[in-house]
Amino acid sequence: MQQQRLLKVLVIGDLGVGKTSIIKRYVHQIFSQHYRATIGVDFALKILNWDHKTVVRLQLWDIAGQERYGNMTRVYYREAVGALVVFDMTRASTFQAVLKWKRDLDSKAVLKWKGDLDSKVALGNGRPIPAVLLGNKCDQLSTGLCSKLPKLENFTRDHGFVGWYETSAKDNTNIDAAIMCLVESIMAVE
Ligand code: GTP
Ligand code: MG
Repeated sequence: MQQQRLLKVLVIGDLGVGKTSIIKRYVHQIFSQHYRATIGVDFALKILNWDHKTVVRLQLWDIAGQERYGNMTRVYYREAVGALVVFDMTRASTFQAVLKWKRDLDSKAVLKWKGDLDSKVALGNGRPIPAVLLGNKCDQLSTGLCSKLPKLENFTRDHGFVGWYETSAKDNTNIDAAIMCLVESIMAVE
């Protein structure tokens, strides 16, 4: 008997870092240089044949970068089970914003274990949801600030990410690997 799992995954990070582009590359295998800012939130669905008995329906929530200044994230984050936190390797300010996004996430998106509804854990003492860090636009490495970035291993561990990847939506570098890493962590804790 096949079972289906619906996983709500958030894609967050500052304006223009490439969240929509990463999702379009992953779900539709397309890329455009044209920038059109996301308003509010967009959605995409990817079906994965996870193993011989499990189909994963990955629901990607593409949250607009400008939402960090809004007050809707609490609503958007509800019942999410994982997150991709994206920055732009060519813009240091977007890397500095990563911790703000992560803190926002950890304070609002808490993993609910089965049975939590009638325990105190549901009141906010639960575990943070798995999150993977993506340094996007790595195709522009030679022109960017990347060489100035500290090695991200320590950063990733210290701030509770389950992994990190240099990605390019343009060249299709590490997009699949980063998302697989996240889905594996989600499936491991669920
Ligand atoms: P908001 O919706 O405003 O939060 O932005 P976003 O994070 O969704 O960024 P979006 O995907 O719209 O990309 C912003 C710009 O960066 C676009 O012009 C993209 O073409 C470009 N871009 C995205 N990913 C890459 C990449 O990997 N490499 C390069 N060179 N450009 C990229
Ligand atoms: Mg967008």
